[in-house]
Amino acid sequence: MTAQRHHPPLKRHESLQPFSRDHFIGLKAANRLVDAAAGDSVARAAAVSYFYDCWNAEIAEHFTQEEQLLIGLMLPPEIVQLRHEHHEIRTLAKAGGLKSASRPPSGPWCKELGQKLHDHIRWEERVLFGAIQNRATAGQLAALAESTAVIEKRRPGLRIRRGKQSPGGRSPNV
Ligand SMILES: [Fe+2]
Ligand SMILES: [Fe+2]
Repeated sequence: MTAQRHHPPLKRHESLQPFSRDHFIGLKAANRLVDAAAGDSVARAAAVSYFYDCWNAEIAEHFTQEEQLLIGLMLPPEIVQLRHEHHEIRTLAKAGGLKSASRPPSGPWCKELGQKLHDHIRWEERVLFGAIQNRATAGQLAALAESTAVIEKRRPGLRIRRGKQSPGGRSPNV
């Protein structure tokens, strides 16, 4: 009997690495929201504040850039899912931003937003990005890499990501 082989996860293609690095921050914001959902209003306010810092620095722009750059490499059902989930998360983020000025965000809102963001990132990391890098031609990936390299340099949130939370080439542990 031969020993079972263990295949490590496919390394994220360099063209998708900037998006995967954003996912580390997105997951952290999502997990903080879910954890704070059962806590008091101070804990919720802190998690929501962190979420909006991340949202304004990179998550909102990240969504738009995925729609601009990845949809041409995706299948119709993947496009529907990506657009639907982005719409749900944007709608929740907008509603929470309007509310938080006058009263603390609710536990259910924190939980729903955190869970949806977490699940969306997990789908992209576990399913979508692997499918894209397996399906795209070398030329398509090279063109994508040019665009994402520019994004990586210009992203205002880059300074937040630099250092301990941005291991190159590795996908977030989702
Ligand atoms: Fe996305
Ligand atoms: Fe993403």
